[in-house]
This record gives sequence, C-alpha cells and structure tokens, in this order.
Amino acid sequence: MDKLTIFTEDNALSAVEVLNDTDTIAQRLKALGIGFEQWQTDAPLSAEADESEVIAAYQSSINDLKRQHGFHTVDVAAIHPDHPQAEELRKKFLCEHTHDDFEARYFVDGSGMFYIHAVGHVFMLRCDKGDLVNLPALTPHWFDMGAKPDFKAIRFFRIAEGWVGLPTGSDIAERFPRFETAA
Ligand SMILES: [Fe+2]
Repeated sequence: MDKLTIFTEDNALSAVEVLNDTDTIAQRLKALGIGFEQWQTDAPLSAEADESEVIAAYQSSINDLKRQHGFHTVDVAAIHPDHPQAEELRKKFLCEHTHDDFEARYFVDGSGMFYIHAVGHVFMLRCDKGDLVNLPALTPHWFDMGAKPDFKAIRFFRIAEGWVGLPTGSDIAERFPRFETAA
C-alpha cells in the first residue's frame, strides 16, 4: 500500500511519483514545512484504551512535540465504522480547507488519508498506526477517513478555536481518489 502519492494539481488520474520509504517521505514533506514521523511506545495498549491511557503511553513523545511547537492541549479522537454520523463526519473534512492552527495528529490505531495541496501538487499521504503528521497553519488540505472510518488519533492544539476548518472554496478534492480507491 502506497504511503505518499504525488500528483500535479491538474492531473488526478496519474501520479508523478510514489514513495514508500519513511525517511524519504519525511524529507519530502519537511521541505514543505510538514512534519512526518513515527512514534513507538513500550506500553501495551488495548483497542479499548481510554484517553488517559493513550496519552500516558506516548507521554514522552507528546511532551517533545508540545515543547517544539507550543501545543498546550491534547485529546484523543476515535471513530469506528458503526458510528451513526460516520458519513456526515467524513463529509466535514472532504473539501479543501485550512486552519489557523497546526493540524497535528498521531495515529494510535487505524488509518486515514491526508491530501496536502502545495507547490502546484497534491501530496496524498496515507497515515497508519504509528504515524504522526503535523501540518502548519494555513496549509490547504483535506482528509478522507473513508466510508468505514476506523481510527484513533491524538490531536494537538495551541489555540482553542484554531482547529476550525476554513474552506478555500476550491473543488479540487472532488477530482482526487478517495481513501477506499487509493488505499
Ligand atoms: Fe483539516
């Protein structure tokens, strides 16, 4: 399964590059100001672990990222395929948007697809268990959790209202492969 698929912004039909090596992906995204790294924990976590158990398991990595970027709040968001508002929640993040704060997510479990629109390209990044992605404020992007969403993620915040999605008004997201066809 491909991790980072790069398209030119005007051609969603054929990718110009596909990268699977974590270090290469991290370097490529770093050049765009985007953080991508893997975290590990020695603490065994069950699928039912609650917010405090998840945060405790990754406390040292969380503290490092908080120090680095000035995050002061973290929480844990989880969604399962049988969530009654799954379709509605999916739609909420499917249009290109920006935020006034970072969008930093660590995937404790499950997966999702980020689409980052930068330098005339779309970077389609599959995030799986163990991946941290950190988009700076004002980065145009969208996110597809798929028709059967299934993930648990630690979220990081600097400002309470910063993580409101501000639509760019572009319909670019409609042209690119959805999570279930690309994953
Ligand atoms: Fe977002």
